[in-house]
Amino acid sequence: MARAPSVASRSEAVRACLLSCAFAREKESRTLDEGLALARAIDLDVVGARIVSIAAPRAATLLGSGLVDELAEQFAREEIALAVVDADLTPIQQRNLERAWKVKVLDRTGLILEIFATRARSREGRLQVELARLTYQKSRLVRGWSHLERQRGGAGFLGGPGETQIEADRRALQQRITAIARQLENVRRARMLQSARRARSALPLMSLVGYTNCGKSTLFNRLTQADVLAKDMLFATLDPTIRGVTTAGGGRFLLADTVGFIRNLPPDLVLAFRATLEGIMEANFLLHVHDASLPEEERRRQAENVEAVLTQLGMDHNWEGRVLHIHNKIDKAAPESRIWLENQVHRADDFCLVSARTGEGMGDLSRLLETRISRLFLGSFELWLEPQEEECRAWLHRHGHIESETRDERGRSHLRVSLNKAAYGRFGKFFPQAAARCVEAKAAEAEQSPSIASIAE
Ligand code: GTP
Repeated sequence: MARAPSVASRSEAVRACLLSCAFAREKESRTLDEGLALARAIDLDVVGARIVSIAAPRAATLLGSGLVDELAEQFAREEIALAVVDADLTPIQQRNLERAWKVKVLDRTGLILEIFATRARSREGRLQVELARLTYQKSRLVRGWSHLERQRGGAGFLGGPGETQIEADRRALQQRITAIARQLENVRRARMLQSARRARSALPLMSLVGYTNCGKSTLFNRLTQADVLAKDMLFATLDPTIRGVTTAGGGRFLLADTVGFIRNLPPDLVLAFRATLEGIMEANFLLHVHDASLPEEERRRQAENVEAVLTQLGMDHNWEGRVLHIHNKIDKAAPESRIWLENQVHRADDFCLVSARTGEGMGDLSRLLETRISRLFLGSFELWLEPQEEECRAWLHRHGHIESETRDERGRSHLRVSLNKAAYGRFGKFFPQAAARCVEAKAAEAEQSPSIASIAE
């Protein structure tokens, strides 16, 4: 079975209409913003968008019949090819709406899958998206209507008609699902090896998490000066990227950028990305990035959503003290939000305000990170190394934090170095003679953070 190209891979933008569903049971009022941002994340030409009120969802079509007819006329008149319904549709509802409107219909999960399909870069990410898409398609095979038929005829969710063979399709999908799951297992095993290697490197790991579009990639770039995709698009980052950050003072840590979270992320999708997101939980600290330019209520909703996904991933109370809250886009915050946030900074020691775009507040963020990194260290040690012990010296530079280093006229180095527990154990094993010469620096001083100079101002 050929893999169908996605909506976004078509050369010209598809004329689409967005329907944002406002259910009577919903407490929050609906806006079109998020649906539009989702639709823009793939190459859709959204020529119409409206909020539709749903007092009582219909089993057959979700929307009432009058509205279905009215929309059918509108779609024909405006030559709409795709209706994006920002809600979850049952396969039957989707089929009935497609028949009534004579356009392709994407529901929220379908749309998010399309976005993920265009964003996945690593092999693991691509396999995960493919698996999630196939599982979704398999659940959508209903009599008289099959996504596979249309894929054979053309392009992804927007293809033309083909043969009807639901059972054969289902078997073919299952075979493909099994094959991909096997490949994914192999890729994961390789990644586990990598993360074991990382654990041996003993550098602290910090993971950026946050609602989609809050500015994680921009912040990641500022901290690492890397060129990770930062676009005003939802889910620009799908695969986690890990880079080393070396501070001016020689302190080192690893920083991971991760997928942005979104409200009502379908549970299947969270599961599909579980392997990717699990890496987050290996981190020593989570840097939860908030978008300070949003109204407080929206910011709080997004934060709750991120926390819900983290809980799904197995985060529990053990994480207390390991989450730092970074309020980004402070340059764009409303004056009253800014005052409120500045008050919070004075009250909490796990909170800071930055602008990844202008660089404002980056010094405060560096200091916050330095303090936290320093808590991971066991303590400071002093030792003399002979000129021929260059290998040992290089190892300490790689795995520890060098607080000071001087050389005498005979080429001997005097180092004051702080090591975390794991590194300290390995140092004793690899360099027993040098370790025997190690003298613990004064206990009172070891309590202090090794001062890592500012990362970037
Ligand atoms: P996902 O990959 O969707 O999770 O997004 P992200 O959280 O990685 O966001 P990204 O860094 O791609 O930024 C989203 C948009 O916000 C981009 O247009 C950025 O230029 C903008 N942005 C990021 N940081 C700031 C900031 O400090 N100030 C302002 N004004 N805009 C920012």
